[in-house]
Amino acid sequence: MKYQFGNFYTTINFTSSEELKKNILSKKAGKELLVFDKNTKGVFTRLVGGREVALEEVIFPSGEKEKNMENVKRLLEKALWLEMGRDDTITGVGGGVICDMSAFAASLYMRGCRLVLIPTTLLAMIDAAIGGKTGVNFGGYKNIIGTFYPAEEIMICVEFLSTLPESEFKNGLAELIKHALLGNGELLSIIEERRDEILKRNMLLLKEIVFQAVQVKCKIVERDLRESGERVSLNLGHTFAHALEAVSGLNTWPHGVAVAWGIGKALKAGEQIGVTDSEYAKRVKALLSGYGFELDLPELQEEKIIEAMKYDKKKRDGNVRLVLQRRLGETFITTVEEKVLLKVLED
Ligand SMILES: NC(=O)c1ccc[n+]([C@@H]2O[C@H](COP(=O)([O-])OP(=O)(O)OC[C@H]3O[C@@H](n4cnc5c(N)ncnc54)[C@H](O)[C@@H]3O)[C@@H](O)[C@H]2O)c1
Repeated sequence: MKYQFGNFYTTINFTSSEELKKNILSKKAGKELLVFDKNTKGVFTRLVGGREVALEEVIFPSGEKEKNMENVKRLLEKALWLEMGRDDTITGVGGGVICDMSAFAASLYMRGCRLVLIPTTLLAMIDAAIGGKTGVNFGGYKNIIGTFYPAEEIMICVEFLSTLPESEFKNGLAELIKHALLGNGELLSIIEERRDEILKRNMLLLKEIVFQAVQVKCKIVERDLRESGERVSLNLGHTFAHALEAVSGLNTWPHGVAVAWGIGKALKAGEQIGVTDSEYAKRVKALLSGYGFELDLPELQEEKIIEAMKYDKKKRDGNVRLVLQRRLGETFITTVEEKVLLKVLED
C-alpha cells in the first residue's frame, strides 16, 4: 500500500518473519544502520535471525527515558562514522520510542536520509510508525522537539506481537479502539465481537485489525500531515490522559489505561453538554470495560487534573479544548467549561 503524506510517499508492507528475513538479508544498494532497543534486538534475532549477517547496528536500553537527544547524537555519530550518505538508510526496529528516535535522526542526517521502520509493538504498528511525527523528549517535556518525516517504507510483521508484554499489548489496544471510533465501523464490530481471540493474540485476526487500524490513521494523515485540522482527532481521550499522567506521575497508570479512561471521560463530557449520543457512549464504555479498562480510577485529584488540562497543546486563551464525538466517525474539537470538566471528573 502506498500513501502520500504531504510531499512524502510511504509504502506499507505487511510481511511474515520469513519474508522480513529475506528482505533484511538481501543485498541492497547503500548502507543500512539498524536501530534497536535491547528487547527488540532479542526478539528480532529470534524471529528474523541476525548473527549470520554483519549488520551495522545501534542498540539502546529500552524505555521512554531513552528517547532523548543524547541517543539521537549517538545515532548520528554512528551514521557519520559509517560514512553514510543521504541515500543510505536508517532502519528503526522497535516500539514508538525507537521509531520516533530513528525517524528523528534520519530527518536530521544530511537534511534527511532514507528511513525504514519495522514497528514491533501494537502501538507502533498502528500509530507511532505511521504518519511522520518524529521526536524526542527534552527539558522535561514529552516530544517537545521533533520533525515531520514520514518513513519511505514501513514493514509490519504482526508475529512480533507474540512476545509483547501484556501491559504493552493493552497500551496498543486502547489506541486501536480509538482508531476504530474515529471512523471504522467494521473494525469496531470486530473488536466488539472477537474480544477473546484478540486477547489470545490470534495472529491472523491481529493482522486484519492492524491492517484496518493502519488505514484509519493513514487516511487522516493523508488529509492533514501537519495537524492543522483533522489530525487533532487522533487525540481523542488524550487531553484527559495526559493530564492524568502529568498529575499522578508517568508511571502510575500505563498509557493505555490513561487513554481508555480519557476516552470514557470525553464521552461523558460530550453527554454532559448534550452533543454525544448516549447509546453510542454506552456502547463504547461497555467495549472499554469488556477489555478490562477501568473507567473510574481511584484517588483522582480533580482540580489538579483540570489545571494540567489547561497546559495541553490544544488549549486556547486558557480554555480547555477537547476532542469529542457525536457518534462513530463524527469527531470535532470544542472548548469545554471548567464546571463541566469538574462534574465529569467527579462522576
Ligand atoms: N510518532 C507518533 O505519531 C507517535 C504516536 C504515538 C506514540 N508515540 C510515541 O511512542 C512511544 C511509546 O511507544 P511504545 O508503546 O511502543 O513503547 P516502547 O517503544 O517503549 O516499547 C514498549 C516496551 O516493549 C518492548 N518491546 C517492543 N517490542 C517488543 C516485542 N515485540 N516483544 C517484546 N517486547 C517488546 C520495548 O523494549 C519496551 O520495553 C512514546 O514515546 C510516544 O510518544 C509516537
